[in-house]
Amino acid sequence: TAPPKNKSSKKAAPAVENHGKCPVTHLTTQFGAPVPDNQNSLTAGPRGPLLAQDVWLNERLANFVREVIPERRMHAKGSGAFGTFTVTKDISQYTKAKIFSKIGKKTEMFARFTTVAGERGAADAERDIRGFALKFYTEEGNWDMVGNNTPVFFLRDPRKFPDLNKAVKRDPRTNLRSATYNWDFWTLLPEALHQVTIVMSDRGIPRSYRHMHGFGSHTYSFINAKDERYWVKFHSLTQQGIQNLSDDMAADIVAGDRESHQRDLYDAIERGDFPKWKMYVQVMPEMEAETYHIHPFDLTKVWPKKDYPLIEVGEFELNRNPENFYADVEQAAFAPSTLVPGIGPSPDKMLQARLFNYADAQRYRLGVNYHQIPVNAARCPVHDNHRDGTGRMDGNYGSLPHYEPNSFGQWQEQPEYRDPPLKINGDADFWNFREDDDDYFSQPGDLFRLMSKEQQQRLFDNTARAMGDAPDFIKQRYIGNCTKADPAYGKGVAEALKKQAKLMAEQKKAMAKRKYLGAAPGGEDIG
Ligand code: HEM
Repeated sequence: TAPPKNKSSKKAAPAVENHGKCPVTHLTTQFGAPVPDNQNSLTAGPRGPLLAQDVWLNERLANFVREVIPERRMHAKGSGAFGTFTVTKDISQYTKAKIFSKIGKKTEMFARFTTVAGERGAADAERDIRGFALKFYTEEGNWDMVGNNTPVFFLRDPRKFPDLNKAVKRDPRTNLRSATYNWDFWTLLPEALHQVTIVMSDRGIPRSYRHMHGFGSHTYSFINAKDERYWVKFHSLTQQGIQNLSDDMAADIVAGDRESHQRDLYDAIERGDFPKWKMYVQVMPEMEAETYHIHPFDLTKVWPKKDYPLIEVGEFELNRNPENFYADVEQAAFAPSTLVPGIGPSPDKMLQARLFNYADAQRYRLGVNYHQIPVNAARCPVHDNHRDGTGRMDGNYGSLPHYEPNSFGQWQEQPEYRDPPLKINGDADFWNFREDDDDYFSQPGDLFRLMSKEQQQRLFDNTARAMGDAPDFIKQRYIGNCTKADPAYGKGVAEALKKQAKLMAEQKKAMAKRKYLGAAPGGEDIG
């Protein structure tokens, strides 16, 4: 008999609708050859097998298995948008940074907001701190402000950062989040109490990314045109107003929409309701750091505003959604080391570790030429003299001599941008900050006393729910830490924990009675 004829060959293409302003495209391979059939694989006869010469199938599958890049180790789930920063007040007496050089000056920017502990597919409305990362494309290079929605952090020594990450993520055996491990770690580090109090307070679940403040958290430095140094903290205050969710509201939202923050930000920008933040700084003259009663480089503490009031700097709005999420949001690389003349680091140990660690993570996550990805690329000329490497996309500096010094005027350093010297003293040692400065309790105590009775009660209840099934000795340790901040704080948490234990026991009984687990309705035998 004659071999079967293939009826589908050379059929006319179906009619197409316009996709916005996009022109119709014709499918090609990655090297530009036309693809004749994208519906059917190339097989020997209608029943197969496949032919190895179906190179388009191979190319498609090869790309598909390489689509996923490593997720960020923390802050994996996030949303991003482009925007504009505008200077509203003159702060040139403190910094020569060009971005702040005159009132009315505008700078293009990109922002990414995140939850921290959840993985890339986690729900948005979870109790957690939020990342608040800003990238300003200034004429003297990019400036990244990689902050959070809290002015302090759990730690003041970077040694413990990998452990923090492990403690808040998954138990290696059960692959579940573990209240025991999480609270064991937090309660063993009393310096975490300030940050934990914020996370367990109303601010622990912002209603959306638009409804939260952003903080640089660390102390950075400003250098002005006279080469004077100031210590500085950055605050970005939401103009949408602070709005938060209770645990119940968040549970309802997550049940219906795991992407509530992403949806909120995207929709607001699409309808032209551009979210705005006002930027302020707190500024401390260099020498005051030596005498100020609070350690100015301790990330677990704030500078009270009565000592260092907020100084207005400017405003930014987010006004453009990325055309492609992966290209701009997933591939965005923010780093505290991405600084510009006039804005520098401080001796804060946590910041010093971050100066190294982010670019290291990004070379692993995105590749050595990650700075050329459009969202990360500076908008000013770049002459870094780095060459080659995986994924190099530009002309690779062509035939320019590749060494420095050279006799051809290439890659000249710019000594006029040197920062003034910074005095440093002390013996090299493993300095135990707990011995010389162990006041971790006054600031969380102050914060607690600022709350209304209702806010305090929600703090107790949120804490008790979050501690869940952690063992008693950990709960007792936490009550002890809270009591040191304020006896009423400790007492409130203790009572809420008692109530919560009773509630959990009742829920367990009710669950056992209903026995609905494992009794889902069956169905037809579909095999
Ligand atoms: C993301 C390390 C503390 C805010 C990251 C990433 C690393 C990291 C490796 C992923 C970077 C990437 O793959 O692109 C550390 C270390 C810390 C620390 C070692 C302490 C020693 C902090 C603090 C803040 C912060 C104190 C806020 C004040 C962020 C934000 C992101 C991030 C916002 C996400 C950036 C984005 O949207 O891409 N961190 N971190 N981190 N971190 Fe940290």
